[in-house]
Amino acid sequence: MRQYSRDLRRQGKRIGLVPTMGSLHEGHLSLIEDARKHADCVVVSIYVNPTQFAQHEDFGVYPRQQEQDLKLLRELGVEAAFLPASLYATGRSGVERSDAGNVVGADAKRERGAHQTFIQVEDLQKPLCGQSRPHFFRGVATVVAKLFNIVEPDVAVFGRKDYQQFLILSKMACDLDFPVEVIGMPIVREQDGLAMSSRNKLLSEADRQRALCICQALKWASQAASSHECTSGPQLAEQIAARISQSQGRVDYVEVVDAQTLEPVGDVRKQSTVIAVAAFFGSVRLIDNLELTAH
Ligand code: PAJ
Repeated sequence: MRQYSRDLRRQGKRIGLVPTMGSLHEGHLSLIEDARKHADCVVVSIYVNPTQFAQHEDFGVYPRQQEQDLKLLRELGVEAAFLPASLYATGRSGVERSDAGNVVGADAKRERGAHQTFIQVEDLQKPLCGQSRPHFFRGVATVVAKLFNIVEPDVAVFGRKDYQQFLILSKMACDLDFPVEVIGMPIVREQDGLAMSSRNKLLSEADRQRALCICQALKWASQAASSHECTSGPQLAEQIAARISQSQGRVDYVEVVDAQTLEPVGDVRKQSTVIAVAAFFGSVRLIDNLELTAH
């Protein structure tokens, strides 16, 4: 992959990267379209990253449809699909070898033992999804840093459906001087409003219907905030959580937070905010959000 990307760079081409875990849907496609606008060559990575799943989570059942994804990417004219078999070294951890200094690539990984290095974006990874998935952003930041190092893109495009993830990756790129422009694209929704997600496939038909309450509650909140019917962060959150519970969703969190710091917001009129939601329908965890600009 690095050879390919270095060759392109030598020809003066700009590279756009869209990292994904596959099972591609129109949300992913919107990122690919945008990457095309900013780059000469688009690389889409497909890798179900084990370090962002905890033992009890859905790594095993996470939807995988490689052939279909590759066909789609070919139809879209994407220049390269990057499908690493594994991005992490295995082996004995903490192996010290003074003679491994000149071994490169996969050989070096075998020589030097199991993967030990992780990236943490200290404060932004703590709230929201960080509360119920404490391992999650460490895995995401680490794998995206690895992808940045391997692909060496000029621009990388992410979705604002995963708003906290987008913010964390922007901060990581800035703090660690990755020469990558990080772009965030709006949420793509199904016709009935459900935010597109690879996990929607795992929902039963009944839960799929019930899950619509998330976007409906966010829509209500948007209207309530803009009409000033309700501008209190905690009250908006409470109302949304109640609506989700009424539809048999199990609320993980509903929080109204500052769009930059992710700290709780008292009144949505004062600063740009995000209303962030995570809820389970059956065993499937869905997230969604609404960005409100100060007015
Ligand atoms: P995945 O869930 O496959 O999502 C890949 C990208 O698509 C992310 O940037 C995500 O925010 C975006 N995306 C997903 N659904 C979207 C929607 N409905 N509208 C707009 N964008 C959407 O997010 C991941 O993979 C992983 O954590 C990854 C960044 C690849 C690291 O492993």
